[in-house]
Amino acid sequence: MALDVDQVIERHPGRLVLWMERTDSTMIDAARLAASGCPHGTAVGAEEQTAGQGRLGRPWHSEKESGLYFSVVLRVNRAPEDLPVLTMAVGLAVAEAVAESTGLAVDLRWPNDVMAGNRKVCGILLQQHHQAIVCGIGLNVNQTHFPAEIAQTAASLRIQAGRPFEREPLLSSILESVDRQVDILQSQGKGALLRLFSSASSYVNGRRVVVDQGETQLRGTTAGLDENGFLLLDLDDGRRTLILAGGVRPE
Ligand code: BTN
Repeated sequence: MALDVDQVIERHPGRLVLWMERTDSTMIDAARLAASGCPHGTAVGAEEQTAGQGRLGRPWHSEKESGLYFSVVLRVNRAPEDLPVLTMAVGLAVAEAVAESTGLAVDLRWPNDVMAGNRKVCGILLQQHHQAIVCGIGLNVNQTHFPAEIAQTAASLRIQAGRPFEREPLLSSILESVDRQVDILQSQGKGALLRLFSSASSYVNGRRVVVDQGETQLRGTTAGLDENGFLLLDLDDGRRTLILAGGVRPE
């Protein structure tokens, strides 16, 4: 099915970047592009999403013309157990691009939330489709307020820096940075990527956290990553456990 594309952004040599005024979710658009055989690195974004998808089936708040909402089709040949580390590569890429473009001090909350001033400014969602991985990035750029449900935990770059930012240069910078981090993973392997993530994230080692797991909560101190990028947590009762999915927050 053809996409209702409004613009092909020309300033990305060697890469197809499609832009729409409005879509339900760029995850769906990118999955269609992947199914139609688009090349590695193809990106599709929108000014507004009417059904933006977050992790764990949550909605992603996608206010018109305020944030960057886009998905990138990655054709990397990785085993399913490598998806977490690929997600972390994308988190690192966004963190690097945001820090360079804005001067803000950024942090990575395991596994891949990009934080500024302890607020979430970017979420990343990876889905496997048709032998490609669709990587969705939602970056809060110029929002000045958020819905009540996330008002205490989310922020935009504008709120944190006290000034607005042009979105297109940020998009370019993120796309280039995603290429670099994925290349590191592909050429140097998981270990190299996990070391980079561990040094960029204040959550990986020695941080007191609460992990929400459905009805229950775990409390403990983070103790590094295992070889697949899962988070080791030293529980307060002395046991060590492996955290497989997000929901990590400071105690
Ligand atoms: C999260 O919950 O942290 C992940 C959020 C991912 C949001 C982005 S916005 C662009 C892409 N399209 C979607 O529908 N979701 C992702």
